Amino acid sequence: METIYDILVKEHNLVADLLQQAMRDNSKDTLLKIKAQTDPHMAGEEKLFYPELEKKEELRELVSHAYEEHNEARSIMSELESMSESDKNLSSKIKELKESIEHHVEEEENKVFPQAQKVLSSDKSQQIAQQYLEFKQSFKQQTPASMR
Ligand SMILES: [Fe+2]
Ligand SMILES: [Fe+2]
Repeated sequence: METIYDILVKEHNLVADLLQQAMRDNSKDTLLKIKAQTDPHMAGEEKLFYPELEKKEELRELVSHAYEEHNEARSIMSELESMSESDKNLSSKIKELKESIEHHVEEEENKVFPQAQKVLSSDKSQQIAQQYLEFKQSFKQQTPASMR
C-alpha cells in the first residue's frame, strides 16, 4: 500500500516536469496546470500531514519553515496570475517560482520526510495517504475548473 511519501514524491516529480515546461513555453496555460497541482498538494500537506508532525516538539521548527515556503510559493504564484504572457518579467518570475518550489521540495524530501518516517508508524503513513487522496477529491470538487 502506498504511503503519504510515495504520493507526495510522485506529485513533486510531476510539478518539476511542469516547471521545466513553463521555463520553455512561458505559457499561462502551463502555469495554471502547475497551480492545479500545487494548490491541493500544499493544502493537503497543511491539513493532514504537517499537523501530525507538529505534534512532535522536535519537528515544529522544520514544519513552521515549510509553511513559510508554501506561502512564498503562493505569493509568487499570485504575482504570476496577474501577469500577462507578453510581460517582459514573466520568464524571470517563472524562474523564481521554479527555484522556490525546487528548494522546498528538496527540503521536504531530504529533511522533513526522513524525520517524519522516524516519528510516524508505517500504518499511520498509509492512513494519511488515504485521507490525503480523499481530501484532494473534495478539493477538486469545490474549486471551479478555471481556478484549478
Ligand atoms: Fe510537498
Ligand atoms: Fe510542501
